Amino acid sequence: MIRGMLAVWLAALLFFAIASTASGQTSEPFTGDPTVGRGIFVDRGCVDCHSIWDNGGSLGPDFAVVGAGRSLQQLAGLFWNHTPRMIETVRDRGTEWPTFSEDDLADIISYIYYVKLFDEPGDPESGERWFREKRCVACHAVGGIGGDVGPPLDSYANYVAPIMLATGLWNSGPAMQASQVARGVPMPIFVGREMSDIHAYIRQRSSLRDRELIFLQPPDPNAGRGLFAEKGCSRCHGDDGRGTRSGPDLRTATQRMQVSEIAGQLWNHSFQMSAAMGALSSTFPKFQATEMADVISFLYYLRFYESDGDLEAGERVYVSKRCASCHAGEANSIVGPDLSQSESILTPLGLATAMWNHAPAMYDLIQWEEWPRFEGEEMRDLSVFLRSMSSKP
Ligand code: HEC
Ligand code: HEC
Ligand code: HEC
Ligand code: HEC
Repeated sequence: MIRGMLAVWLAALLFFAIASTASGQTSEPFTGDPTVGRGIFVDRGCVDCHSIWDNGGSLGPDFAVVGAGRSLQQLAGLFWNHTPRMIETVRDRGTEWPTFSEDDLADIISYIYYVKLFDEPGDPESGERWFREKRCVACHAVGGIGGDVGPPLDSYANYVAPIMLATGLWNSGPAMQASQVARGVPMPIFVGREMSDIHAYIRQRSSLRDRELIFLQPPDPNAGRGLFAEKGCSRCHGDDGRGTRSGPDLRTATQRMQVSEIAGQLWNHSFQMSAAMGALSSTFPKFQATEMADVISFLYYLRFYESDGDLEAGERVYVSKRCASCHAGEANSIVGPDLSQSESILTPLGLATAMWNHAPAMYDLIQWEEWPRFEGEEMRDLSVFLRSMSSKP
């Protein structure tokens, strides 16, 4: 059962990959194309050691676990931290160090991040329980069992992802809430993975025959940004989701959440929102097709491109990691190039790419000492500091 579902999910991923290649790339504020990144992941042999949901090598951690809620620069830091291990393996095998262009790195990092956007399949047993406890069963039937106040939910079994269920819930929200209030049924609240568990239960129990699996277009965070404004979300949360007086900053709120969790959060606040929208005399926004998935991927990506940093903290990183012991700084110790003359430190991604590409050379010089590791926001702060000392315009 689990294996079968995993297979379906992997097929879905593959389909997403193909579909988004076909749809091509637009000029977009979010950089990094996860579809291209997926190709690099396979071509450069990452898959020999890393898996996605247990599919692939097992020497390194599973990418479906690694990416969650981390920003681009945090992931770049993780890349750097594991170079010694990779350098040794690459040398053992007598292969060449895989160098990256900035675009390559952006693509592969966004792929690692993106993988997490797809939820693992939920658990049908728990789903059955939530379906009962949240009283869905009093009003909805699945597989012929349940009430008939609302429509049967069997057809949601056509989708591999819970996102359409979330969309259905959202769009029917105000009507459903009225029906619940009338019957004295409490408003269901979703936490954690409950939404995807319920979806898994529907998929298991549905009486739908001849299911045609409907794969959705890959969610597009750039389209999501537009919808976020169009649906009125930005009126309270601001254009970049950074919050206003009427709504919280969503960058932190959605950190580490998966799609179905974000969908659950959306549902949880739909009631309050429809009231607030009424007060602003605007209509409650509905979502068509994959629009909700796009908005959710926009929310999900908000954190990924966080790029502010702390200059002073960056200087401390530079000193404590002893970068200056080889790069112009400490007296008589100029082994590496003068970074203030380097083009590559001008952008965070440029820095990460240069560090990755030069890692074997640095490793040979540094290996008798401890390899400097980056934790938390250190890479981000370092990048701000290096840019400040650049002599380039
Ligand atoms: C030879 C096996 C091997 C290959 C090939 C490999 N990795 Fe790794 N990777 C590891 C191991 C082992 C770790 C665990 C951290 C460590 O021990 O340094 C790791 C850790 C990571 C991490 C950090 C995860 C974390 O949570 O700390 C990232 C990111 C990563 N690898 C990306 C890649 C990418 C991208 C590629 C392909 C270019 C790749 N790896 C190829 C073995 C490998
Ligand atoms: C008090 C009765 C009631 C309860 C409890 C209830 N619903 Fe509904 N639900 C409705 C009604 C009525 C509609 C149709 C609303 C409309 O006309 O758009 C609906 C619509 C829906 C839809 C959209 C269906 C479609 O195909 O358009 C979904 C999905 C849904 N509910 C899921 C759930 C889930 C999941 C639960 C449990 C967490 C739940 N409902 C609990 C009454 C209820
Ligand atoms: C009328 C103002 C308003 C509008 C419009 C609005 N929100 Fe909110 N939103 C809030 C407030 C206030 C909260 C915090 C209270 C809550 O969770 O209900 C919130 C909470 C959230 C949360 C959960 C944050 C957390 O801390 O858990 C998400 C996610 C969210 N909104 C997304 C959206 C999206 C997407 C839209 C557009 C479809 C939207 N909001 C429209 C006011 C609004
Ligand atoms: C043990 C000496 C040593 C240390 C310590 C060291 N580096 Fe390097 N670094 C080098 C050498 C040597 C090169 C040139 C490698 C080459 O030509 O492939 C280099 C190259 C680079 C480059 C590429 C520059 C360019 O213009 O392409 C960057 C960026 C860089 N280092 C950043 C850092 C940072 C940040 C630190 C501190 C975390 C650091 N280095 C610590 C020796 C070192």
